[in-house]
Amino acid sequence: MKTILVTGGTGYIGSHTVVSLIENNYEVIIVDNLSNSKLEVLNRIEKITGKKPVFYQISVQNKDEMRQIFEKYHIDAIIHFAGLKSVKESVEKPDLYFSNNVGSSKVLLELMDEYNVKNLVFSSSATVYGVPKRVPLYEDDPIGGCTNPYGQTKVDIEILLNEYYKTHKDSNIAILRYFNPIGAHSSGLIGEDPQGVPNNLMPYITQVAVGRLPYLNINGNDYKTVDGTGVRDYIHVVDLASGHLSALKKLEEKPGLVIYNLGTGKGTSVLELVHAFEKANKIKIPYVIAPRRPGDVDENYANCDKAWKEMGWKAKLDIVDACRDSWRWQSKNPNGYDK
Ligand code: NAD
Ligand code: UD1
Repeated sequence: MKTILVTGGTGYIGSHTVVSLIENNYEVIIVDNLSNSKLEVLNRIEKITGKKPVFYQISVQNKDEMRQIFEKYHIDAIIHFAGLKSVKESVEKPDLYFSNNVGSSKVLLELMDEYNVKNLVFSSSATVYGVPKRVPLYEDDPIGGCTNPYGQTKVDIEILLNEYYKTHKDSNIAILRYFNPIGAHSSGLIGEDPQGVPNNLMPYITQVAVGRLPYLNINGNDYKTVDGTGVRDYIHVVDLASGHLSALKKLEEKPGLVIYNLGTGKGTSVLELVHAFEKANKIKIPYVIAPRRPGDVDENYANCDKAWKEMGWKAKLDIVDACRDSWRWQSKNPNGYDK
């Protein structure tokens, strides 16, 4: 496989994956409507790789504009990152989330059918498991029961992909369920750049560290966990990026529809992550204990044996690497991609 269409390629995970793709000699075409990313990302990718990827500012929902890409290029595979991802916003604007996330996936499948594109890698999420009955989570654990529209869009898209596969048995689809991506490229040139006050833990910590926020709110210390704070499976975004290259290789074996958890298999509590950050970067992170966030679960982490057995992929970096790299990115770019 050579030419890869990357939707959402200027976003956080997409940009790191594009770097890995270019470094591994793939031709990359990015489609992104820049609803949650910046054009500057392309310059940063060029700085790292020496190559500026082909870029189209298009919404994947716009079938006519998307068709032009399928007309112009012979696409070997698609990696579909494009989507809105804020749990909070999805509760306020569920229709937007369903039309954008599910709608763009439908457009892609229609164009894959029309232009005979056989290979797709899709960004799913651990959120599809809803409230876990047990941890670690395995790929064949039940999905659904999501407490928010964002999670439901991922479940709906997974169902859509399964339906598509039933009528397109010669297609190859890898559904990747990411756990909690953190970290940044080791150059400090690309990283996570949330709009407004971050909802997620690591960008909140780095914004406290850089002085944009006064202190961290730890949401709950009475969970049934090692120290009472929530436990998650934090995976370095560079490992996550390499998981996509492994998935593309896997698709070359024509496996049909496959599903993999991408995590580390290890749970880390909020306090453990804060302390790891402090130790790695020699910076104190002031915090207060705040109320629980509605919908949060005690523990959520992956079993990742399947990805290792079937794709030869596993996470190589740990939370110390991620804390160091997240801080390098934030300290070099205190305001993200904005100067
Ligand atoms: P991100 O917001 O940084 O990247 C998503 C990109 O998609 C953005 O650049 C945005 O502008 C673009 N986009 C959104 N709607 C679009 C549309 N209709 N057409 C074209 N572009 C569009 O998010 P991310 O963290 O890089 O996440 C990438 C994917 O992985 C998303 O689908 C997300 O739901 C999924 N995911 C993310 C996480 C996480 O914690 N970051 C966890 C699990 C799954
Ligand atoms: C959240 C989403 C999930 C989404 C993922 C993307 C919810 C309920 N879940 O997962 O659907 O796929 O982001 O990365 O929103 N925490 C604090 N203080 C903060 C922020 C977070 O203590 O300021 C705690 C949380 O309570 C949790 C942990 O840190 O225990 C991780 O939170 P977060 O980074 O938001 O990820 P998830 O909640 O796992």
